[in-house]
Amino acid sequence: MEPLLKVENLSVYFMSRRTLFSKQVVKAVDGVSLSIFQGETLGLVGESGCGKTTLGRATLLLVRPTAGKIYFRGVELTGLDDDNLRLFRREGQIVFQDPYSSLNPFMDVYHIVEEPLIIHGINDRRERVMETLEKVRLTPPEEIALKYPHQLSGGQRQRVALARALILKPRYIVADEPVSMIDASSRVEILELMKGLQKSEGISFLYITHDIATSRYFSDRLAVMYLGKIVELGPVPDVLWEPLHPYTKALVESVPEPDPRNRFIERPMLKGEPPNPARKPPGCSFHPRCPYAFDRCRGEEPTLRYVGRGRYVACHLY
Ligand SMILES: Nc1ncnc2c1ncn2[C@@H]1O[C@H](COP(=O)(O)OP(=O)(O)OP(=O)(O)O)[C@@H](O)[C@H]1O
Ligand SMILES: [Mg+2]
Repeated sequence: MEPLLKVENLSVYFMSRRTLFSKQVVKAVDGVSLSIFQGETLGLVGESGCGKTTLGRATLLLVRPTAGKIYFRGVELTGLDDDNLRLFRREGQIVFQDPYSSLNPFMDVYHIVEEPLIIHGINDRRERVMETLEKVRLTPPEEIALKYPHQLSGGQRQRVALARALILKPRYIVADEPVSMIDASSRVEILELMKGLQKSEGISFLYITHDIATSRYFSDRLAVMYLGKIVELGPVPDVLWEPLHPYTKALVESVPEPDPRNRFIERPMLKGEPPNPARKPPGCSFHPRCPYAFDRCRGEEPTLRYVGRGRYVACHLY
């Protein structure tokens, strides 16, 4: 099957100021390759600063890649002219973490959701806005349409952001920590809603989160990122029940376990210095924190390799 989105060797480097007189290169995304199929949700997990948002934004060309290729339905994006890029902008959308700062506080819900239609010169706007509000279960839509962001709950605001992303009928949505700032009770509702849309409309999601528990619920496959690289990728149940990469193991084991039978199992948490993309260690980036590190890990960087059953891992142990 041809993937909807395919990323090959994608890198995004930033120049950042180290001191007043010197600059350094921050390799936020470093040679990432992955595919997302139609109607699939790929979860992307990893600690803060590992490059999840940068990777997500780069797949929508919201950040210019330093190197690498992005294919959408087999067409290479960086080679598109302005007209075709405009068409792609309808197909790929993003939902941000904080629905408060991502929505214009001076616009009512109707105008917030309508705006992309105006930008893309689409008619029958009123019908489409109402239909979309209904789709994200903001009801009654006529009433909600008149409200301003501050008059809505966090969960409702995120539904508005979702409606705005959906109004152009996209095929691919980057959901960047869409529920992490929402109260726990609305969290499941929003995830249910996105799961329903994934099924009914065949939308593909890149679901960015640092919360493994929600990725279990919403994702088909899971990619684990560490310092700009994908270190493990595979079907969600396999990656979570039998993690291969020592970093994935540490992430999975640091999730609180509600099962009391497991209370005697030792839980090695992530130790050592938190990763800094401006100061990557040589060899495998994870080796200073890895309990299994041996000589080769300090000198040679492992590549992401296929290990069977749809699973990939970048680790010298395999
Ligand atoms: N515009 C930018 N200019 C310079 N550096 C940047 C820029 N955007 C991101 N970075 C750096 O790139 C690295 C990756 O950042 P990114 O926001 O992608 O991480 P993240 O995994 O999304 O983190 P979080 O979980 O905190 O959202 C960080 O070190 C960050 O400081
Ligand atoms: Mg982020």
